[in-house]
Amino acid sequence: MTSIALVTGSSSGIGAQVARRLAADGFTVVVNSRSSTAEGEAVAAEVGGTYLQADVGDEAQARELIAKVLALHGRLDVLVNNAGTTQVIDHKDLGAATPEIWRRILDVNVIAPFVLITAAEAALREATGCVVNVTSLAGVRPTGSSIPYAASKAALNHTTVLLAKALGPGVRVNAVAPGLIDTPWTEDWDAVRAGVTAIAPMRRSGTPDDVAEVVMGLVRSLYVTGQVVVVDGGTGLVA
Ligand SMILES: NC(=O)c1ccc[n+]([C@@H]2O[C@H](COP(=O)([O-])OP(=O)(O)OC[C@H]3O[C@@H](n4cnc5c(N)ncnc54)[C@H](OP(=O)(O)O)[C@@H]3O)[C@@H](O)[C@H]2O)c1
Repeated sequence: MTSIALVTGSSSGIGAQVARRLAADGFTVVVNSRSSTAEGEAVAAEVGGTYLQADVGDEAQARELIAKVLALHGRLDVLVNNAGTTQVIDHKDLGAATPEIWRRILDVNVIAPFVLITAAEAALREATGCVVNVTSLAGVRPTGSSIPYAASKAALNHTTVLLAKALGPGVRVNAVAPGLIDTPWTEDWDAVRAGVTAIAPMRRSGTPDDVAEVVMGLVRSLYVTGQVVVVDGGTGLVA
């Protein structure tokens, strides 16, 4: 029987590449995004999967997304919580990081993965499946596009560890924490890219495939759970 993977936020960037790599490994992949439906449908067609639109930051839509995956495929083996959002705010500009912005970022980056895992728990247990959360170097080091974003990714890192304890031995839960990756999200971050290229031990920013490679390793590594793997070319060692 074919294994089923759901990758949230997979219409572009890291999520799209994770979808491609999972499909290349034989998974049937469900592609998701919030508003970029044409791009999501194109990725789904490319990987021979299906596309389901949903704003995962909306609890009802997140639960409905899992219900639709199960109605379509009857099982779920791998859940990659990749959808994320931010707002670029100077860390010293505390007033700009309003509670409204905090709530929007926490809804998508922290509460959505928890809701999706909760809704998928029984199916993941039945499949002896796994979860990979896409967090950020900003959740490990005091850096990132804004304080709410960095704090949200730190929260998702800790949630990953807690859920690995709570859901073992049936379900493994791990995270990848990317540094600067070249995607539409960072296409105009030239100054940041120049800084990373200058100081990171690997002397370059990352590609979506650098991250997808580690996601695939975590999916395959049956004795690894509760780990947050930083994928940053060593940036965090020197930044
Ligand atoms: N690029 C980096 O340097 C970097 C570094 C560290 C961590 N990350 C993390 O990696 C993940 C992917 O980022 P990326 O760089 O690949 O960005 P991207 O190319 O902009 O892709 C983001 C994806 O998430 C989807 N998305 C956003 N909000 C969503 C929502 N509420 N519901 C469903 N889908 C949603 C987007 O679809 P729509 O456009 O339709 O909303 C898109 O498919 C994020 O979690 C991000 O925090 C990225």
